[in-house]
Amino acid sequence: MDRIAVLTSGGDAPGMNACIRAVVRTALNSKMDIYGVERGYAGLVKGEINRLNTRSVSDMIHRGGTFLNTARCPDFTDIEVQRAAAEALSAYGIEGLVVIGGDGTFRGAKDLSDNFGIKVMGIPCTIDNDLYYTDFTVGFDTAVNTVLWAINNLRDTFHSHDRVGLLEVMGRNCGDIALYAGVAGGAEYVLVPEIPYDLDKISASIKKSYLRGKTSNMIILAEGAGNRDEIADYVAKKTGIGVKVTNFGHIQRGGSPNMADRILAARFGYKAVELLKDGHESCAIGIKDNKVITVSFDEVSKAEKRFDNELYKIAQVLGL
Ligand code: ADP
Ligand code: F6P
Repeated sequence: MDRIAVLTSGGDAPGMNACIRAVVRTALNSKMDIYGVERGYAGLVKGEINRLNTRSVSDMIHRGGTFLNTARCPDFTDIEVQRAAAEALSAYGIEGLVVIGGDGTFRGAKDLSDNFGIKVMGIPCTIDNDLYYTDFTVGFDTAVNTVLWAINNLRDTFHSHDRVGLLEVMGRNCGDIALYAGVAGGAEYVLVPEIPYDLDKISASIKKSYLRGKTSNMIILAEGAGNRDEIADYVAKKTGIGVKVTNFGHIQRGGSPNMADRILAARFGYKAVELLKDGHESCAIGIKDNKVITVSFDEVSKAEKRFDNELYKIAQVLGL
């Protein structure tokens, strides 16, 4: 395979640029032509494809976001739209594609591969960590550390004012950002979509903690686990203590990727190009027990949802 392309799709995540850089430099090292597609599948359909060289990715490893830009392209479920994408690749003589994104991006990759025979390699890159065939996705670690920064700052002020605070974090239907940041930040309560919770019990526990002199409490809420304002109002009514709500929002999607995400990006980007070079069938790349793995896109969608119940238990024990 002499000519390949790379794109980023779905929500951006810290480490996307580091992934692109790894793909570009590995391809050039293997004497392959490498092209960058702008704005994910939306740009691919419109033929927004440009040749990249080693300088295209210089000074990129530390930057958040994606210099190729990303987009959501809901029409990509339509086979005729996918055909336009396949034709755009063929017009450039591109035989292989590396897609960097989340589960939606991988569904598009599977369609391109199944319907048009394009070799597609998927690099998992989303802050949500919601691709269950892999232990970690690129961007998750950095996002958790950014949330941790927010928790530290909130702690300072809530502790000074004897307040209860609720911090909502992202993750779609996955509670990993809340769980990891909650444990690392010493949050008293972690609410995730994977585990039912009881607001009456939480309220009673907050009240009890006040009676024994603990006057500041932090609740970390994963966005998929309930409505932040309703939860805050309920707890405030039950406890008689005001609850300050913070929605951390897109701040947690930006920022320079940390070491863990840069290393993952390097390993995944390198592997994706090696697989294309070897004529490997389309697949998703991941990490299990610190080993780089490959799985078919079928297996990606069938992977059983993982949740670290032990870490959740630890969050409960240490939070009280
Ligand atoms: P992520 O990749 O982070 O999960 P999205 O769910 O927004 O982000 O998906 C990214 C893009 O992947 C979508 O905008 C769409 O272009 C494409 N995509 C998502 N689902 C499908 C599908 N079922 N078939 C084909 N393409 C899809
Ligand atoms: O998938 C990443 C993510 O940040 C989710 O955590 C969140 O639910 C969603 O994207 C937000 O999407 P948007 O940037 O379109 O508001």
